[in-house]
Amino acid sequence: MAVSEVRAAGPAGAEPTGEGRTVAVAHPNIALVKYWGKRDERLVLPFTDSLSLTLDVFPTTTSVRLAPAAGSDTVVMDGAPARGEQLRRVTAFLDLVRERAGRRERAVVDTRNTVPVGAGLASSASGFAALALAAAAVYGLPTEPRALSRLARRGSGSAARSVFGGFVVWHAGPVDALDPDAASYAEPLGDAYIDAALVAVVLEAGPKAVSSREAMRRTVATSPRFPEWVAASRADLTRMRAALRAGDLETVGGIAERNAIGMHAAMEAASPPVRYLTDASATALGTVHELRREGVGAWATMDAGPNVKVLCAAADAERVAARMATVPGARVVVARRGPGATLRTEGG
Ligand code: DP6
Repeated sequence: MAVSEVRAAGPAGAEPTGEGRTVAVAHPNIALVKYWGKRDERLVLPFTDSLSLTLDVFPTTTSVRLAPAAGSDTVVMDGAPARGEQLRRVTAFLDLVRERAGRRERAVVDTRNTVPVGAGLASSASGFAALALAAAAVYGLPTEPRALSRLARRGSGSAARSVFGGFVVWHAGPVDALDPDAASYAEPLGDAYIDAALVAVVLEAGPKAVSSREAMRRTVATSPRFPEWVAASRADLTRMRAALRAGDLETVGGIAERNAIGMHAAMEAASPPVRYLTDASATALGTVHELRREGVGAWATMDAGPNVKVLCAAADAERVAARMATVPGARVVVARRGPGATLRTEGG
């Protein structure tokens, strides 16, 4: 499909608005140095720091309103009642917010994604960043960015980063911190001097077979390559921060591609193996390598799904997108640096 057709189809759907609702908007982020593996499941504390770029596409808009007379939370996702694991995660998150706020009222949550859920384009990052902001505002918790990032992390690790725009680093926090929950948060990298774009190559929009949560758990517990990935990732992060400061996209891209491949190698060595990449992903990767051979700066990264995201200079985005659109079955979306989570209060 042509790039322009996908863009025309872009973010859609009515926004959840109305009386007395607090509405928050957040965007997905794509990690260039990945988060893969929790050292503490309950607190969502990662083994390693990670680094991402927040995008300007596929926002999630979430409204929260109190329902004092209700006996349970109501969660609507993309127009339909949430069920199963999705409902459980949102309700558990609201329980945490209520516990911190010393409140008991249930809530009505209405969330609209503009990205296919579970397709490896990180809807849980934008989803929990928006929910954290709206819920914190409604229940009277602090909404300053660092507190919000720590809160969003408890919903989904990568959501800690979507609180901020542009390039963002999420600190794992020291293992011996007195309060490890407080020590693990994201913050923007104010000194990153690169005008980058990410070309998302959407190969398959169906839900994934293994959730990233389960896949991570399995990798940590069984993959002999996990320790090596953790060590490599730590080194990658230090080098990438320096390259971002220096405006060196080539180094940033090379590190990002190797880091993603290392993460997938670690999960493929798990037992049973986790494999998100498909033949179509391999074709897309091959196209990225071809672009490089032709002298175009383009580097691939892949998350918990078959889609490939291509990092390039903003000035090269259209060219890279046009070439990636030649991959059979691919839909291509050009994303650039996007904003952090924002709030608006409507009604009374
Ligand atoms: C591959 O943040 O979705 O996208 O904390 O279990 O909710 P949970 O996981 P999640 O994992 C994202 C993993 C990744 C890499 C990344 O975004 O850093």
